[in-house]
Amino acid sequence: MSYIIRPWATRDLKDVMRLIRECAKAHGALDQVRTTPEMLRDHGFGKESTFGCLVAELPSEQKSKSGHTIIGYQFHYLSYCTWDGHILFGEDLYVMPDFRGKGIGTSLLKKAAKVALEKGCSQFRFISASWNQPAMDFFTKLGALDVTFSSSWNLCHLDGDHVRKLAEKVGK
Ligand SMILES: CC(C)(COP(=O)(O)OP(=O)(O)OC[C@H]1O[C@@H](n2cnc3c(N)ncnc32)[C@H](O)[C@@H]1OP(=O)(O)O)[C@@H](O)C(=O)NCCC(=O)NCCS
Repeated sequence: MSYIIRPWATRDLKDVMRLIRECAKAHGALDQVRTTPEMLRDHGFGKESTFGCLVAELPSEQKSKSGHTIIGYQFHYLSYCTWDGHILFGEDLYVMPDFRGKGIGTSLLKKAAKVALEKGCSQFRFISASWNQPAMDFFTKLGALDVTFSSSWNLCHLDGDHVRKLAEKVGK
């Protein structure tokens, strides 16, 4: 099976949105997806693009049963660590079930690691659900360290109303 890994283009917006929803569904979180193809276009291709995305693409004669050629994706963005300088943060990594175990996920991460080096990053970080042992095994095999345990780091989110409430306290 042949495939290519390439940076996404605006023609991929619908496919990437489809895969984002598939990935969220696999995490039991489809109801939490609020992004739209329009948002992805504005945030990913606008003047101040905030992230990059890589896609795995099959030749058209090898398309999936459902008729798709874009069968995997990986999102990443630049972040900054006060101890290390620039780091790359990998948001999602997803390959459609029928195409797993063929090296595509690894190829997506390899290409993302290249992006990290090209952008002068000293680290490539990503998160994985604690129940997702296959994904943890996959990342560990590539040399990733689970800092939740090794360094006792916890990931914290401040969502919606809490962000607003905090911002409203400016000057009070
Ligand atoms: C994790 C994931 C991206 C790996 O993609 P992939 O294309 O199957 O990865 P590769 O073929 O490069 O590597 C497969 C390796 O990962 C392991 N693996 C992990 N999850 C797997 C799965 N669901 N199916 C098949 N292999 C899986 C295999 O054992 C294999 O190990 P090996 O190299 O020793 O044979 C893919 O399983 C996936 O999309 N999972 C659902 C989403 C997810 O969990 N994303 C990661 C957290 S955001």
